[in-house]
Amino acid sequence: MSNSRREFLKAGMLGGVAAAAGLPSLSIAGDSRKSSKPLDILILGGTGFIGPHMVREALRRGHSVTLFNRGRTNNTLFPDLETIKGDRAGDLEVLGNREWHAVVDNSGYMPQYVQNSASKLAPYAGHYIFISSISAYASFSLPNNEDSPLATMADEDAQEFSWEFYGALKARCERAATEEFDADLLTILRPTFICGPGDHTDRFTYWPVRTSKGGEMFWPGSPQHEIQIIDVRDLANFVVDCVEQRISGTYNTVTPVESYTMGRMLEDCQAVTAADIDPVWVDDAFIESFKSADGGKGVSLPIWHPLTGDAAHVSSVSGERAVAAGLRNRPIRETIRDLMTWWDTLPEERIANARFAMDSEQETEIIAAWKDAKA
Ligand SMILES: NC(=O)c1ccc[n+]([C@@H]2O[C@H](COP(=O)([O-])OP(=O)(O)OC[C@H]3O[C@@H](n4cnc5c(N)ncnc54)[C@H](OP(=O)(O)O)[C@@H]3O)[C@@H](O)[C@H]2O)c1
Repeated sequence: MSNSRREFLKAGMLGGVAAAAGLPSLSIAGDSRKSSKPLDILILGGTGFIGPHMVREALRRGHSVTLFNRGRTNNTLFPDLETIKGDRAGDLEVLGNREWHAVVDNSGYMPQYVQNSASKLAPYAGHYIFISSISAYASFSLPNNEDSPLATMADEDAQEFSWEFYGALKARCERAATEEFDADLLTILRPTFICGPGDHTDRFTYWPVRTSKGGEMFWPGSPQHEIQIIDVRDLANFVVDCVEQRISGTYNTVTPVESYTMGRMLEDCQAVTAADIDPVWVDDAFIESFKSADGGKGVSLPIWHPLTGDAAHVSSVSGERAVAAGLRNRPIRETIRDLMTWWDTLPEERIANARFAMDSEQETEIIAAWKDAKA
C-alpha cells in the first residue's frame, strides 16, 4: 500500500474516531449529525429512490459526493454534483484510478456486476457498502438474524435479472462483494420495505393516501398483524454513519420486531390525514380465497403478507445489531406525515398513474364479497 493511500484511508477513519469518542461534531439524532472530516464518497446509483436521500444526507454532513450512473433516471436531480456516466453492466474504466473513502453500491442486482465494480474499486476504496435486502434470506419460516441462511438458486450463472430470484441474486451479490473486500472494509445492509418521500413503488404509500380519502376502507388481516418497514431517511442516515464511522459487517435495517402493526398504521394514517375511516378488516383466509375466486385478478397487498408457512416470520427480522451500531428509527407517524406532504407535491399525472395495491372498484368488490361471506 502506498503512503498516500495509507494517509487517505487514515483520513477516512478520523470521522469514525470522532464518532466513537462522542465528539460534538457527530451527535446522535438525525438532523444534528454533521461530520468533522469531509470524505469522498462514490455512490453507484444515486438518483433512484433511496440514493437521493443518501446523497442529501452526505452533502448535509459536509462530504463530497460523486455519482456513477447511466444518466437515465432523474438525471437533473443533482446538477451541481459530479456524475461519472457509465453502465455497470459494461466497461468500468471510466471510474479511473481515483481513490474514495467510501463507495455505496446502491444499484447492485446482478452478482457479476457487483463483482466487476467491487474488483475495479477494491484497490482504491477505503470502504464498500452494499445495499442488499432482507429478501436475501433463504426463508422466513423462522425469525432471521444476520447469520441466518441465505437464498440460493440453481442457475449459478444466470445472466438475466429476474424478480423471481431477486433474493438469491442479492445473496450472490453480497458474496461477490465479500470476495473483493476484506471484512473490515465491507458493510452489507439488508433493508426491508423502504418507505418515505420519493418512494416510486407506491407500496406503503397506498395506505395513507387511501386513508386520506375516507369512507369504508378495506384493511387486511387484523389490527394485530405485525409489519416491519424502514424509513428511507433512517436508512440514509445509517449509511452515512457507516461511512463516517467505518462501521463494517452485515446489518438488517428494519423497524424493531413487534414494534408496529397494521392497526397502528391505521391509527397513524388517520391521525395524519384527519380522515374519517370506517375500516373493514378482512381475514387472511378470505383474502387468499378471494384471489383465486377472482379469476387471477386478485389483490396484491404490499407491506402486508399473511404470516404463515415460509413467510410466518417475515415481520420478525431482527434489527438489534443495526440499532446497537447506531440505526435510529423515527416514529412511523412522522414517515406518514412526510410521505403525505411529498405526495401532495406530485403532478396530477403521477398521482393518476400510482402503482397502488387496488383501485376503488376492486376495494368495493372485495368488501362486498367479504360481507356476503359473513352474512
Ligand atoms: N425499495 C425497497 O423497498 C427496497 C428494499 C430493500 C432493498 N432495496 C434495495 O435498494 C436499492 C434500490 O435503491 P433505489 O430504488 O434508490 O435505486 P434503483 O431504482 O434500483 O436504482 C436506480 C439508480 O441506479 C442507477 N442505475 C441503474 N442501473 C444502472 C446501471 N446498469 N449502471 C449504472 N447505474 C445504474 C440509476 O441511474 P440510471 O438509470 O441513470 O443509470 C439510479 O441512479 C437496490 O439495491 C434495492 O435492491 C430496496
